[in-house]
Amino acid sequence: CRDRVIAPSLLAADFSQIGAEVTRAIHSGADWLHLDIMDGHFVDNISFGPAMVQTVHETNDIFLDTHLMVSRPDHYLDRFIKAGADLITVHVEADHDISETLGRIRAAGCQAGLALNPATPIDQVLPYLDQIDLLLCMTVVPGFGGQAFMPEVLPKIEAAAAARQSQGLGFHIEVDGGIVAETAGLCAHAGANVMVAGSSTFRAPDMAAAIAEIRSA
Ligand code: DX5
Ligand code: ZN
Repeated sequence: CRDRVIAPSLLAADFSQIGAEVTRAIHSGADWLHLDIMDGHFVDNISFGPAMVQTVHETNDIFLDTHLMVSRPDHYLDRFIKAGADLITVHVEADHDISETLGRIRAAGCQAGLALNPATPIDQVLPYLDQIDLLLCMTVVPGFGGQAFMPEVLPKIEAAAAARQSQGLGFHIEVDGGIVAETAGLCAHAGANVMVAGSSTFRAPDMAAAIAEIRSA
C-alpha cells in the first residue's frame, strides 16, 4: 500500500501573501503543492500561469503538482516545464494528441499525469495507462474550489485501481475536489493515494491539524 500524499491547492491560499502561504503549507506537512492552471476556456475560471509556477519553484523545494485545465495543453507545455513543474497533468477531454503530450512531458524529465472529469468514463484513459505517472480522477466538475465532493466518482477510482493492478502498473491515483478527512478516507479505500485539498487545508483554522487528519482518515 503506497504512502498517502497530501497536496494542498494554492487556489485556496491568500493571494495577497503567496510566499508566506507556500511556506505555511510546507511547515504544516504538505508533501506536494497542487497548482491549478485555468485558462477561462477549458473551465469557466482564470487562475494563474507559468510565472506563478516559476516563482514558487525558485523560492521553495516542494514538489510542484501542476494541473492544467486548459484547452490546448500541448501549446502551453514548454512554458510549464521551463517554469519548474515536477509533474504536469493534462486532461483527456482537452484538444491535443494525448500520447504525444504525455511523451513530451516525460522526455523533459517531468512526471506525466492524465486527468478525467467526473462525467468522463474510465474507458477514455485506458489506452494511456502505461504512459502515465499519475491518474487524476476529478471529484468535482473543475473550475472552482470549495465545491461538494461527488461520491459517484468512487466506483471509477476502484476501476482505475483494478486496471492498474491487472496491468501491473504503478501510477499514483489522485483525487481533487471536495476533499476533507471523511472524503479522503472514502477515496483511499477506493484506491486513491494522492489527496488534493484546497479549502480544507488553506482555510482551516489549523492547517497542520487539517493535513494530519486527511493523512490518517
Ligand atoms: C478544481 C481544482 C481543485 C480545487 C480544489 O477545479 O482543480 O484543485 O482547487 O479545491 P477544494 O479542495 O476547495 O475543493
Ligand atoms: Zn486541481
